[in-house]
Parts: sequence; C-alpha cells; structure tokens
Amino acid sequence: MKLLVINGPNLNFLGIREKSIYGNQDFKYLLSLLSEKAEKENITIDTFQSNGEGEIIDRIQKAYFDGTQGIIINPGAFTHYGYAVRDALASVDMPIIEVHISNVHKREEFRNVSVTAPACTGQIVGLGLYGYILAVDGVINLLRQS
Ligand code: DQA
Repeated sequence: MKLLVINGPNLNFLGIREKSIYGNQDFKYLLSLLSEKAEKENITIDTFQSNGEGEIIDRIQKAYFDGTQGIIINPGAFTHYGYAVRDALASVDMPIIEVHISNVHKREEFRNVSVTAPACTGQIVGLGLYGYILAVDGVINLLRQS
C-alpha cells in the first residue's frame, strides 16, 4: 500500500510558529512519526511539503500516475481559499483525508470554512500531530474495505 502525506504552507515551521496552537514538536518530528507508522503498518508513506499552491497541485496530479492509493493532506491556509487545490483533489479518485492540527472551528471565522474538505473523504481536526496517524489508519481502513 502506498500513501502520500501532503503538508501545505508554513507546516515546515512546526515547532517555530505559534507553539501555543501547533505545539512544540517540529516538522522533522512529524516526519519521524509518519515513517514509524509506515514501518509498523508495513506500507509506504511518501511525504511532500510546499509553501506553493502550484507545487501542491503538481504533487496531487503526480499521485494519479505514481501508484499512490490514498492521500492525507493538511493544506494549511489554502484550506480556506485554495479552489485550485480543491479541484486537484477532486480530480483524483482515491480516499483523501484532510487533517488540521488545530481545531479550526474554534478559531478565527475565516478558518471555519474549508473549500478543500468537500473534495475529501473525511476530515480530522484539533487532535494535534496524532491526527495524521489517525488519518493514515482511516485511509488504510477505507482501502481494505474497497
Ligand atoms: C492548519 C489550520 C490553518 O487554518 C492554518 O492556516 C495552518 C494550519 C492546522 O493544521 O491547524 O497553516 O491547517
């Protein structure tokens, strides 16, 4: 099984940015959690991070061709206005879970709306980095059912 975890803008700044919201652990730690999870489940988890919307769209399109079976995505702020990311997600027919480290529903009003979520199978918010691990479990479960 081959999954892809995409992180959008500023997520490479975990451990530096707004620690009271996103925690003290850095991006490298998140990548280590995902690689441990891949080993435990005996699956491949590719990871990709970009601050650019076009690069994220290119990676989603690449996933269509490279054998990726499911996507976990934290689109960062693109969540709230990234119609082109939403269209890219809607183009690939596979389980997709949107993850947010923080509870976007408890924060500023502009974060309450996700334009990308309607192109996803499900969404996990507010559970910190553990949300990514739950999302991997969710995608594995969806793929085993299909
Ligand atoms: C975020 C929430 C977004 O509103 C914000 O722009 C981010 C991170 C989260 O993981 O909680 O960059 O996606």
